[in-house]
Amino acid sequence: MSALSYPMPEAVKASARLNPQTYAEKYQQSIADPEAFWAEEGKRISWFSPYSQVKKTNFAPGELDIQWYADGTLNACYNCVDRHLSERGDKTAIIWEGDEVDVQKHITFRELHEEVARFANGLKKLGVKKGDRVAIYMPMVPEAAYAMLACARLGAVHSVIFAGFSPHAIADRVNDCGAKVIITSNEGRRGGKGVALKPNVDEALSGDACPTIEHVVVLKHTDVDFDMHAGRDVWWHELIGDCDADCPPEVMQAEDPLFILYTSGSTGKPKGVVHTTGGYMVYASMTHEYVFDIKEDDVYWCAADVGWITGHSYIVYGPLANGTTTLMFEGVPTYPDVSRIGKVVDKHQVNILYTAPTAIRALMAKGDAAAKGSKRDSLRIMGSVGEPINPEAWEWYYKIIGNSKCPIVDTWWQTETGGILIAPFPAATDMKPGSAMLPFFGVKPALVDNEGKKLTGATEGNLIIEDSWPGQARTLWNDHERFEQTYFSTYKNVYFTGDGARVDEDGHFWITGRVDDVLNVSGHRLGTAEIESALVAHEAVAEAAVVGYPHDLKGQGIYVYVTVVDGVEANDELRKTLVQWVRKELSPIATPDHIQWAPGLPKTRSGKIMRRILRKIASNEYSNLGDTSTLADPSVVDSLIENRLNR
Ligand code: PRX
Repeated sequence: MSALSYPMPEAVKASARLNPQTYAEKYQQSIADPEAFWAEEGKRISWFSPYSQVKKTNFAPGELDIQWYADGTLNACYNCVDRHLSERGDKTAIIWEGDEVDVQKHITFRELHEEVARFANGLKKLGVKKGDRVAIYMPMVPEAAYAMLACARLGAVHSVIFAGFSPHAIADRVNDCGAKVIITSNEGRRGGKGVALKPNVDEALSGDACPTIEHVVVLKHTDVDFDMHAGRDVWWHELIGDCDADCPPEVMQAEDPLFILYTSGSTGKPKGVVHTTGGYMVYASMTHEYVFDIKEDDVYWCAADVGWITGHSYIVYGPLANGTTTLMFEGVPTYPDVSRIGKVVDKHQVNILYTAPTAIRALMAKGDAAAKGSKRDSLRIMGSVGEPINPEAWEWYYKIIGNSKCPIVDTWWQTETGGILIAPFPAATDMKPGSAMLPFFGVKPALVDNEGKKLTGATEGNLIIEDSWPGQARTLWNDHERFEQTYFSTYKNVYFTGDGARVDEDGHFWITGRVDDVLNVSGHRLGTAEIESALVAHEAVAEAAVVGYPHDLKGQGIYVYVTVVDGVEANDELRKTLVQWVRKELSPIATPDHIQWAPGLPKTRSGKIMRRILRKIASNEYSNLGDTSTLADPSVVDSLIENRLNR
């Protein structure tokens, strides 16, 4: 099947770093001699002492080892800030666009240096030192980036917790990494409303729930006041009041951890993905440069949140390492109305826009109103990330937002990969709406069947990566065994992504979605088990099973089957209560779309819930349930079909 393809626009071709031939040659070099290739590319980063080793990696069972540039020393903050001072000191490093239309700020690299160094000195006063963990629970304000960079400067390992997470989720993450300090704000602002953050931190820490936390640093972002706990809480502005801007960056080994970022897996406990310093910085910087074909004067806008990996690699570390002006947006694409994105593009003359299919679909749902009031003619390249982009959304984005002149880089990657692995690099290839197209340099994707046999030619299967790349996660915090088990045991000697994919007859990759119990709801990654454990923590719930189903706007919706405790009445009020409960226990991003009462769940005779059947019922595909011969009680299924909700 040959898909419709769009050529790279001529103007982009004329100025792009790559063309099909240079891409092919460079890719060949990177695969034929990764050692030489990455030795050379490593030079894009400033090292305090150079590396002599480049790649030391082994995916073999029992010998798992991933090291890059291991004997080099560097500092990530130095690379993002200090090294630009001589040539780019007065260049804007961060443009901040607030939630309200007339609120904005420009921060030069020199100002960034001062802010970061002063805050790092503030953290030092609180006893933060190399190797300590610091949690960051912040809105999308420049101080979130200052906090990350200040940690990096001191060699402290930051763990950013998405500001949409609830107290419970904060406490779990803080305790897992043993954070000493948590940095937050009184409030964030989104869509014209205040979002209280400090009270969530207070609740997370209440009693002795997070014994490792010694201090809470609070940014005063709005005028709303919350109680400060004497001895524990300190205002950001007071902390840095007497700090100077001289704070030498700590000398870090390439394999010292830079950050931990929690993500969802197929079991209940979130995974603390660990990224280290040297390889991550080389990879974030290089992919940012090539995927977005960055030029010195570009204004680059990644509309993600710093609470996710996209914010880490492509709002903060990648662009700033490259000396690029990066735009941070506090608000939402639909406030005050759907024309906001276009207007921000015009106002700041944005050249590169990187967003998610869920945002694109939300705008598309309002017809062409998103294009009203803006020209968007500064745009050169547009990106998509987080979930498969459906061809209708792709075409709308291309034609309406990009005026049919900007390539769309549909970037496939994961929290664990640190940076983009597959994308249509400008101008290495034509584009096919819905396809992520080609691997980045040094990346060896392949498909295997369920037994691990490698598949060739045009086919569909499980997506694996056959060799290491510098940006790859090194471990899960305090759980190396789970790391090995999750990514390196399903198929031997390769990294398993958890995604399914198709390769077409031109060798281009099409990601089809997760093949495990992980959901992708509006581009947010959620484990079904996480939502189930939140549900069963409610006293009325005896058992719960969560599955995904296709949803027009969100990509996937959340469908919940609940068996109530004997004697409890399963009614609408309880349904509302449980929806609120999940929002509060976990996060509003995990809000169930449907809750179906299930007197029983379909189980095998050994007691395992048959999710395949639940998924089909939720997706209205119940006429073909597949093999049901192992069901302990087939009548359960008939009753579930009869009472299904997503009709
Ligand atoms: O299923 C894939 C999907 O998002 C998952 C990774 O989620 P997370 O770790 O939260 O990182 C998201 C941002 C990098 C993947 O396993 N995914 C991500 N990008 C794409 C995608 N699916 C299809 N196409 C993409 N471009």
